[in-house]
Amino acid sequence: MSAADLENLKIAESVPNLRSEIAAARNAGLKVALVPTMGAMHEGHLSLIRAAREQSDYVVVSIFVNPTQFGPHEDFDQYPRPFQSDIAACTDAGVDLVFRPDVETIYPADDETVVNLQRLSTILEGAHRPGHFQGVTTVVLKLLNIVAPDVAYFGAKDYQQQLIIRRMCRDLYLPVEIVTCPTVREPDGLALSSRNEYLSHQERETALSLSRCLRFTRDLISGGESRLDYVRQEMVAQIEKTPGVELDYATVADAESLEEPDRRSGPLVALIAARVGTTRLIDNMLID
Ligand code: PAF
Repeated sequence: MSAADLENLKIAESVPNLRSEIAAARNAGLKVALVPTMGAMHEGHLSLIRAAREQSDYVVVSIFVNPTQFGPHEDFDQYPRPFQSDIAACTDAGVDLVFRPDVETIYPADDETVVNLQRLSTILEGAHRPGHFQGVTTVVLKLLNIVAPDVAYFGAKDYQQQLIIRRMCRDLYLPVEIVTCPTVREPDGLALSSRNEYLSHQERETALSLSRCLRFTRDLISGGESRLDYVRQEMVAQIEKTPGVELDYATVADAESLEEPDRRSGPLVALIAARVGTTRLIDNMLID
């Protein structure tokens, strides 16, 4: 079997089916990539799939809206699930195998194991969404163990998430390479997100204040401002003067540890999370 023999998209719903497809690819000596998603695919997901397609021989995409990473009052029920158009997008992008498990497959009734990072999962997003990252790391570890890919792809848009996944893989000696792909933005700066479809026209305009604030922060620091507490105050002030945005946090942090130093001592990342109407949005920008 060669990569060319695997040209038709296959869909596996059970772990044994998925594993037998992947075993065939492995026996053919193919390099296996995993792109974990919750579906509702946009250009951001497609950029991950394209990177996987270029760098590997056999591309697996998982589509699973993971209940454990949503809080009790979050949008799990409302989360878009356009399965047919996701499959069409995967077919066009040259995906080999879609893994679409149901909740019972990933979380059988007697399931009781979770994975948690003690510090990195409790700050910033973790402080505002308690339990969120435990849900993410638990499902990602399960997916990595089920698929056993050589390489897995995540988006920089979820900056803290990709750091946490990297740290989990390092700490647990998982034999997988983690690749982070850049955030894809609309021409006006809005970061692509499956949740953007909740925004009204007016809210979408308001949401541009997030990327605007990040660019302002990057320019301030690149222009020589080294007092990071001052920068944080400016970020908050800028967002608070925008009507219709309710800020969760806006900060600059060390790009690796996410600690929030007073002075710069290495690469930084500016991070922001806010609610526009009822939609919670996050965005970030690296400052090298
Ligand atoms: O980034 C996402 O879409 C999800 O958090 C992930 C990594 C697929 C885990 O459910």
